[in-house]
Amino acid sequence: MQMTENYKNDFPLLCSQDIAYLDNAATAQRPLCVMEAEREYYESYNANPLRGFYKLAIDATEHYEAARETVRRFINAPSAAEIIFTRNTSESINLVAYSYGLNFIHEGDEILITIAEHHSNMLPWQMVAAKTGATLRFLDCEKDGSYTEEAIRAAVTPRTKFAAIQQVSNVLGTVSPVEEIISLVHKNGGLVLIDGAQSTPHMKVDVQALDADFFAFSGHKLMAPMGIGVLYGKKDILDMMPPFLSGGEMIESVTREGAVYAQLPHKFEAGTVNGGGAAGLAAAIEYLENIGMDKVEELERELTVYAFNRMQEIPGVHILGSPDPDSHNGILSFTVDNVHPHDIAEILSVDNVAVRAGHHCAQPLLKHLGVYSCTRASISFYNTKEDIDRLIESLASVRRKMGLGN
Ligand code: ALA
Repeated sequence: MQMTENYKNDFPLLCSQDIAYLDNAATAQRPLCVMEAEREYYESYNANPLRGFYKLAIDATEHYEAARETVRRFINAPSAAEIIFTRNTSESINLVAYSYGLNFIHEGDEILITIAEHHSNMLPWQMVAAKTGATLRFLDCEKDGSYTEEAIRAAVTPRTKFAAIQQVSNVLGTVSPVEEIISLVHKNGGLVLIDGAQSTPHMKVDVQALDADFFAFSGHKLMAPMGIGVLYGKKDILDMMPPFLSGGEMIESVTREGAVYAQLPHKFEAGTVNGGGAAGLAAAIEYLENIGMDKVEELERELTVYAFNRMQEIPGVHILGSPDPDSHNGILSFTVDNVHPHDIAEILSVDNVAVRAGHHCAQPLLKHLGVYSCTRASISFYNTKEDIDRLIESLASVRRKMGLGN
């Protein structure tokens, strides 16, 4: 394996702490440029965006709207008006569920999700189904995380009014057949939301090429500050949707009787916005664009294949999902015979290896796979071969440390 770049040097936390950080699917670390961009916003441009007429407030607004344009470019949306800033993926999906789902989905309609969805892309649709009388249908994956042609064709029906599908699984790393599902659902006149929380940080996203009606992702998994997220939606659909939250600066005018709402995107951004977060998100995107998403993917693939192959050599370790390391997209969830995932994570933690253990907010998927919980190592391009070696060395000691032999 040949890797020359060491992007770790761009990340202050990773330089100042002795840690093999392999919990990137939960949240990424931040490069210095992101922290500086947020700090610069508060040091030089801070006022309440979208409101004031003095120079500082105009600067704040310009920075906020420039960040929106950076996001538009990054996911190739046709218009910046279709980019709505939210807090995170969960809020983006809830916006669509409450605003579109409760108003346009009705009894007799079907909502399609996969069994592998993160709870964030499952609970809002359970709520919509319960409140509207629509039917929630599940598309089940195979043990390797793939979907058969037969299952896809059976799951999408003429009644599928809405599908909400993750692009990449946060447990298995598998890429969902989103293009095929979008095409089938569109043929029947339905709409599709793509949960891009686990794909956007790791692969090139093009919402026009996908023809997604909605696309949601979080800033914090993309190295931006916590508390900034994105919802992309097609303009004609967003235009017909009512606001999700009401409050300041999402109106044209208000009378005693009611309000005329603002145009997109501000109709969906009630209250004071996250100007510093948006500046940090723009910096994170520019940092990724400078590296190149192709390069990011290549680095992560090399590390994932290396980790996958070395983990396979450890007795008692079983990786969930596909036997093909290329299908894992940086995510390696595993069990160790007769050791609880929390014990595994604690033993790794003593060796300063950071992983996540538990149900990963995907309990129906784990039940479907026949496991109660698992441990997950998740890799980013800024990890190094040494990080993986530390994981392997620590993992190889787990069963011995638990008194279970080698
Ligand atoms: N959704 C994040 C994860 O999978 C928090 O860990």
